[in-house]
Amino acid sequence: MPRKIIIDCDPGQDDALMLFLAFAAQDELEILGVCAVTGNVPLEKTQRNICILSDIVGNKTVPMFAGCDKPLETEGATAEYVHGEDGIDGIDIFDPVTKLESKGAVDFIIDTLMSAADNEITLVPIGPLINIATAILREPAILPKIREIVLMGGAMREGGNVTPSAEFNIYVDPHAAKIVFECGRPIVAFGLDVTHQVFTSAEVLDRISTIDNPVAKASHDLLSFFGRYDADKYGTEGAPLHDPCTIAYLLKPELFALKSCNVRVETQSALTMGHTAVDFWGVTNEPKNTQWAYQVDRDGFFELLIERLGRYRA
Ligand code: BDR
Ligand code: CA
Repeated sequence: MPRKIIIDCDPGQDDALMLFLAFAAQDELEILGVCAVTGNVPLEKTQRNICILSDIVGNKTVPMFAGCDKPLETEGATAEYVHGEDGIDGIDIFDPVTKLESKGAVDFIIDTLMSAADNEITLVPIGPLINIATAILREPAILPKIREIVLMGGAMREGGNVTPSAEFNIYVDPHAAKIVFECGRPIVAFGLDVTHQVFTSAEVLDRISTIDNPVAKASHDLLSFFGRYDADKYGTEGAPLHDPCTIAYLLKPELFALKSCNVRVETQSALTMGHTAVDFWGVTNEPKNTQWAYQVDRDGFFELLIERLGRYRA
């Protein structure tokens, strides 16, 4: 039986690659819906982008939902300087055939979970955690229905990418992230410690360019754009594939090393707002609320991605 998942995202080139990987894995994953949230670019663009990406993968069945357009308490932030003005710069923007559902993402998440069995549904958030936290606040009875929350966010050894101590998804809405990390359901977190081990390279882009289908072509074009920022910032050849780590884990957990840790989110200090305090060495007695990913088999990760991109039709 495929695992039932809800994807919550803010595309974003790496979100796009995550969606491409997920839609190529429908034997293993049943995608119940894709939700958009404000993040890399404002909601009006992320909600359009999920529909464009849906068209690119040829999706006709998985519904798309628009979610929250601002954080719970803070001002928020966007990242056009990384992803471009449209969020998915690198490919042409077009008017998508896929349309958003009239129901909002938070209602979709609540209704889907409330009609599910206990431990049935896996949430896969790869943007700021606003939709998920809002759903938990509005209907806490959804919690037992959640099997696992497999998220991209946070940083420990690697430091922050938006402030010295905070990773973007957590920084945008630390209060939402705190609610999610403290919700009591199993969490698997892919932060910068591991996503900075999966930078693309010229060799990876060359291999993707030899795959003859529209999704691989879009992947190549998105990653070519995405890589320019990171090449300047980190001196790397390419870009970190943050968000696809979540789906790679669901498909091949053996690619990753995880450690059970307590993770708490800073919501007070102006200096370290959005920092994830990961108790990697167990120096507190706080409950271990998170499987923290700290290592990935880079070659295995790219083998998986490239093999799955090859599954789309020419
Ligand atoms: C995260 O922030 C966004 O820029 C990416 O899409 C990813 O989800 C990395 O910090
Ligand atoms: Ca993202």
